[in-house]
Amino acid sequence: MSFYSQSNSLDSQQVDSIPNGVQSITLGDRIYRLDRLLDQVRDEIFTAASSYEIQRAVDQLFNGLRSLRREASRDEWRQLIDRGRSHSLCQIVHEDPFTSRAFNKPRGYAGDAVMMDYIYSDDGDSSVPETGPIGKAIFHYTTSAPASAGVRERRCHVASLLDQLGAESPGRDVLAIACGHLREASVSSEVHLEKFGRFLALDADPESLDEVGARYGRFGIKPIQADVRRMLTGRTDLGSFDLIYSTGLYDYLNDSIARRLTTNLFRDLRPGGRLVVANFLPEIRDVGYMEMFMDWHLVYRSRSDMLALTEAIGESELKEIRIQSEVNQNIIFLELTKR
Ligand SMILES: C[S@@+](CC[C@H](N)C(=O)[O-])C[C@H]1O[C@@H](n2cnc3c(N)ncnc32)[C@H](O)[C@@H]1O
Repeated sequence: MSFYSQSNSLDSQQVDSIPNGVQSITLGDRIYRLDRLLDQVRDEIFTAASSYEIQRAVDQLFNGLRSLRREASRDEWRQLIDRGRSHSLCQIVHEDPFTSRAFNKPRGYAGDAVMMDYIYSDDGDSSVPETGPIGKAIFHYTTSAPASAGVRERRCHVASLLDQLGAESPGRDVLAIACGHLREASVSSEVHLEKFGRFLALDADPESLDEVGARYGRFGIKPIQADVRRMLTGRTDLGSFDLIYSTGLYDYLNDSIARRLTTNLFRDLRPGGRLVVANFLPEIRDVGYMEMFMDWHLVYRSRSDMLALTEAIGESELKEIRIQSEVNQNIIFLELTKR
C-alpha cells in the first residue's frame, strides 16, 4: 500500500517534512492518486443525476490535478499527463467543445479566437457548439472556471480603458496587438460611437481578422495581419499610438521575446500614451486540467515577472508603472505610461 493511500489527508507540505527513513512520496504514489482521481471522476460523471453533479465531479478533477501538478517535478508531471490522456476520462471530457478544441488545435495553437468566443458566448457573439448533455455540463464548467472568468474580466478591463480614452480624449489612436476577434469592441460604447482616430487591430491569424473586419470595420477599425515575433526582427512601422494593448498573447511568449516586445511597443507610444499588457497569474485552479486534457500550456507570470518585462525601458521615459489584477486575481495587467 502506498504511503499516501494510508493517509490521504496529508498535504504535500506535510509529506515534505517527513523525517529521513520514512517512505516519501514517489511517482508510483502520484500515479496511484491520479488513477484513483480519474476513476472516481469518471464514475461520478456516469452516475450523475444532474448537470450540477457532473460539474461537481469536474471541480474535484480541477482541484486534484492542480495539487498533483504542484507536488510533482516537471518530469513526473509530464508522465502523469501522458497517463491521464490514456485514461477513459479523457474521451469524456473531450465531449466538451472548449476542451476538445484546445486539444485538437484546428488553427495550430490552443486559445484561438473561436475558442475565446466560447468564453464570451454569453454576449451573443457566438453560438455554443452542439454536444450531448455531459459535454454541455462540462462546457458550462470549463467556460465559467477561473481562467475563463479571468478572460471575461480582462475584456471588460480593456473595454473600460477604451471607453475612458474615447470619452476623455476623442480622436486618439489605438493599436490592439494579437486582437483575435477583438470582442472588447462589442462591449465598448466609445468604439460604437467611433470616438477613435486610427484603430488598428493586429493579429497573425487571417481568419480572425476577417471576422474583425466584417464585424467592426464599420466603426473604423482596421485589421492588420502581422506576426509580432517577426515584427521584432523586421521593420514593421505602424506609426505611434496613444494606447497600445495586448491580451492573451504574453501568456505564450517566453521572457526574452516578451521583454523585447514590451520595449518595442513602449517605443511606439506617443508622450502620455499608455501600454497595457495582460498575463495569467501563476496557480490558477485550471492549470492541471488545461495542461493534461486541453494540451494548453501557458507562461504564467507573477507581479515581479511583469515588472521584469520593463527592465530595458529607460527610467527617464517612464512616467508611471501600474500593476493590477482583475477581481478574481487570475489575470494581471502591466500598465506603462510614457512621459
Ligand atoms: C488567446 S487569443 C487572444 C485574443 C484576444 N486578444 C482576446 O483577448 O480575446 C491569442 C491571439 O494571439 C494571436 N497570436 C498568437 N501569436 C501571435 C503572433 N506571434 N503574432 C500575432 N498574433 C499572434 C492569435 O492568432 C490569437 O488571435
